[in-house]
Amino acid sequence: MNTESEKEQFLKEFGSDYGYANAPKNIDEIRATEFKRLNDTVYLDHAGATLYSESQMEAVFKDLNSTVYGNPHSQSSCSLASEDIVGKARQQVLSFFNASPREYSCIFTSGATAALKLVGETFPWSSNSSFMYSMENHNSVLGIREYALSKGAAAFAVDIEEGTHVGESESPKSNLKLTQHHIQRRNEGGVLKEGMTGNAYNLFAFPSECNFSGRKFDPNLIKIIKEESERVLESSQYCRGCWLVLIDAAKGCATNPPNLSKFKADFVVFSFYKLFGYPTGLGALIVRNDAAKLMKKTYFSGGTVAAAIADVDFFKRREGVEEFFEDGTISFLSIAAIQHGFKIINMLTTSSIFRHTTSIAAYVRNKLLALKHENGEFVCTLYGLLSSEMGPTVSFNMKRPDGTWYGYREVEKLATLAGIQLRDVFAILVLVLNILVCHTWIFFQILRLGMCAGMIVTFYMENQLEQSEYLLVTCQHSKMP
Ligand SMILES: Cc1ncc(COP(=O)(O)O)c(C=O)c1O
Repeated sequence: MNTESEKEQFLKEFGSDYGYANAPKNIDEIRATEFKRLNDTVYLDHAGATLYSESQMEAVFKDLNSTVYGNPHSQSSCSLASEDIVGKARQQVLSFFNASPREYSCIFTSGATAALKLVGETFPWSSNSSFMYSMENHNSVLGIREYALSKGAAAFAVDIEEGTHVGESESPKSNLKLTQHHIQRRNEGGVLKEGMTGNAYNLFAFPSECNFSGRKFDPNLIKIIKEESERVLESSQYCRGCWLVLIDAAKGCATNPPNLSKFKADFVVFSFYKLFGYPTGLGALIVRNDAAKLMKKTYFSGGTVAAAIADVDFFKRREGVEEFFEDGTISFLSIAAIQHGFKIINMLTTSSIFRHTTSIAAYVRNKLLALKHENGEFVCTLYGLLSSEMGPTVSFNMKRPDGTWYGYREVEKLATLAGIQLRDVFAILVLVLNILVCHTWIFFQILRLGMCAGMIVTFYMENQLEQSEYLLVTCQHSKMP
């Protein structure tokens, strides 16, 4: 592969999107100053975790070494410093999602999964409720099903087919099609009774971007489900009642955060390490204040109560939405760190990061699709290509010249030998099969035999074309018989 002419060809096609030409630092400067620790490491596992920048960590150290932060639930001046920084962090998070504080609140959690669990735990399920979720979803979303089913609600997955372009246009797409998979119920006694569903609350969950295929989902889904559930679910008895919508933005928020001023989701979840690498163990649930009022919480604790009596069955919750959801002392030092993470995102802007990373991903997709064996057979099968808009993830499997798949151990070995950091291949195997294989028996056979495997590579702010070239050369050389 002639990398110089490849780069020229790439720049001709994607030059206006690649490299942050209008930012204070271009891509080569960013890589050289903010991510020097990478040296020649080809880090392409941003779907797993993104990387912190060096000035971010210097600012965090400086901040923590120069400020005394106390427990935000106390009243000392050091506690007020924490309260102040936590308040600012909440505002910064809300403005990242273009959410008005009058309409939304930012609840800190230990991650996207904890935020999802919180929604599942506190959602006002009844035996007339439905939990509907797109087939392409993270297991952490599927876990909500346990809460729904245990309260007698119905749960079902849907395939979402879009007819046209997805994006931020304001008119919902009428040609969007939802196909319902079979209804799961734990308690047949709870089968819906006609006419009794009007007051039920239902939950619909979808990812802003699939962490496996890179497919981006249309934010218009929110309005469609809230206003047209009868039409898109073809008057299924499970569509009635009031729909609340959850976006799992754990993968998508780094390059395309949901815009909550336009698309009024009730819940958005994400983790900060997926945005700017550090801190880990911190995420957030953005909740619409009206939706928060519907949630039911059993537990009370620490700073979340105004008063509780030990020997009398009495407690009084604090008023705020944050205090309703946040148990115990929040991770205030981690929260203090997020202002420093947002600096690089704000400097580059999410839209530039999106254009930069998706230009590399589009280039890699085209090259992988064109890769052939000597006998003319194509080498790669790519996933998620049917959707009209893709994120910066490329998900693919490789075949031998005789059409058989490379096993996951081979792919793993290939990535390890080449020193490419990508998404765990065994996990991919499970995900690929989850999405592609309908029959459980076939699923387990393929799993047992390890017959097929894939790679997920995700590009992010510090990736240059050179790392994608290295990946392509590795795939090219690996197409041995
Ligand atoms: C789409 C999606 N949802 C949820 C999660 C879970 O996030 P966390 O492990 O940060 O709780 C992930 C993590 O990879 C993800 O990609």
